Amino acid sequence: MQYEVVLPAAGSGKRMGAGKNKLFLLLQNKPILIHTLNVFQNDENCTGIWLAVKPEERAFIQQLLDEHHITKVKGLPNGGEERQHSVHSCIKEMEQVDIVLVHDAARPFITQDIIARLVETASEYGAAIAGVRAKDTMKKVRDGKIVETVDREHLWMIQTPQAFRFDLLFEAEDVAEKVGFLGTDEAMLVERLGYPVHIVEASYDNIKMTTQEDLVIGEAILRKVQGTH
Ligand code: C5P
Repeated sequence: MQYEVVLPAAGSGKRMGAGKNKLFLLLQNKPILIHTLNVFQNDENCTGIWLAVKPEERAFIQQLLDEHHITKVKGLPNGGEERQHSVHSCIKEMEQVDIVLVHDAARPFITQDIIARLVETASEYGAAIAGVRAKDTMKKVRDGKIVETVDREHLWMIQTPQAFRFDLLFEAEDVAEKVGFLGTDEAMLVERLGYPVHIVEASYDNIKMTTQEDLVIGEAILRKVQGTH
């Protein structure tokens, strides 16, 4: 089933401490951004890519797209102050499609299999997000002291992609903007309108490149995926 994808790529990546957009850092000689884009470029069900970018990085990103033969990009609108604003600027430019995915450009290890399951589930129920089960014991802590040990059975760590029927996400973003609500992910905007959001069990490999250690882990994941050691 076909879909379009929104990739927010306008962050500053301060926690990476690279002094530039972390998406330009290389994994096996290719920018992180290109690894992520290639997944969607090579997925025949993906019919369009929308990239939110910083205005001062647009020309460089366009150059990268040309150099790496990324042909599915339909628009590169300006990103915003917060990730949610960057996503919203893409949604506002898009034409109506059935299913839209939102995926962090900083998660290059997403697979076509997970994407397909998200698209199917969103098509059936309206909204579906990727996540993995919490592995460690989970405790709620306040002022350095344990308040309670939380039942791990029901706890999931949430990732992207997050997939939605387009009209549902459009409404949720629109309402959030009007009331000035800032969520930590798109699902939160949909949840607060009372719509159900389904979970799709994804992979622990689908990490977000956030800090320097992630570059080392990222290289290892790439080697594993390629079957080399
Ligand atoms: O900073 P973090 O890694 O959580 O950002 C997740 C994704 O959102 C990244 O791909 C980043 O480029 C993007 N982002 C954005 N606009 C912002 C902040 C983050 O497009 N204002």
